[in-house]
Amino acid sequence: MRSFQIVKRVKQVMAVLSQPSSLASINDLPWNNVLHAAAKPLFTDSKVMISFEDLCERLGLPDQVTCKPLLRGDLTPGGVSPRELTILCHLAGHLQPKRLLEVGTFRGRTTLNFANVLPNSEIRTFNWPQELCSFPVGEHFRGTAFESKIIQVWGDTRTYDFSQIPKIDMAFIDADHSYEMVHVDSAKVFSRLNDDGIIVWHDVDRNHLGSTRAVMEFCNSKQLPFHIIEDSTLAIASRRLAKS
Ligand SMILES: C[S@@+](CC[C@H](N)C(=O)[O-])C[C@H]1O[C@@H](n2cnc3c(N)ncnc32)[C@H](O)[C@@H]1O
Repeated sequence: MRSFQIVKRVKQVMAVLSQPSSLASINDLPWNNVLHAAAKPLFTDSKVMISFEDLCERLGLPDQVTCKPLLRGDLTPGGVSPRELTILCHLAGHLQPKRLLEVGTFRGRTTLNFANVLPNSEIRTFNWPQELCSFPVGEHFRGTAFESKIIQVWGDTRTYDFSQIPKIDMAFIDADHSYEMVHVDSAKVFSRLNDDGIIVWHDVDRNHLGSTRAVMEFCNSKQLPFHIIEDSTLAIASRRLAKS
């Protein structure tokens, strides 16, 4: 173990001794991995996994992809894959939410694509303030014809008052993928979601068992039907997915 890791562990132990409830917020401890592993069976649960085609059928959408994503080739680490971008464009493009909220702008690739398929919608994208980021937030849409259509909201989801955001029809949650923060972001977004609105999360897969577990717990607590879309790391939840 390197010295900085030892210092980090000592600090964690001290923090837990002084405030035992902080144990749950230490995301990289081995026993947290064990807790998060409880989410693993979801990936083999046929009631949870859904193919793109079946999802389209459940939502009454065509399954032939016609929306062409922009900037497919830009695969900055941390961003969605080309297939995921295609799925997001297809869902947004056919559902045509009046208001969409994205949590986690990063360089703006997904934001740009939402703006491209939603010419008549109000699009908000939320991120930490630029001065706290080491990359140009939203660079993909800045200076393009889409910029004036996109409302950039700056803040930290932990402290931002989401009641300032009008009710939304679709949300894409793709910010901090830790167990705790996915719970926080999901609750805040859900508080602004219309009854038949749709939430999509990124990074719900075997490599992100914390966020997977948070999505599962959150949806169960709200009795919100949810699925993980096969061959992607996207999860989707909506009352519209309830079986009739
Ligand atoms: C994975 S990136 C988003 C990628 C983007 N959706 C895309 O695919 O083009 C996550 C972003 O969320 C932001 N972020 C993380 N935690 C946040 C928080 N608590 N509040 C606001 N922004 C946050 C980061 O600054 C980063 O830009």
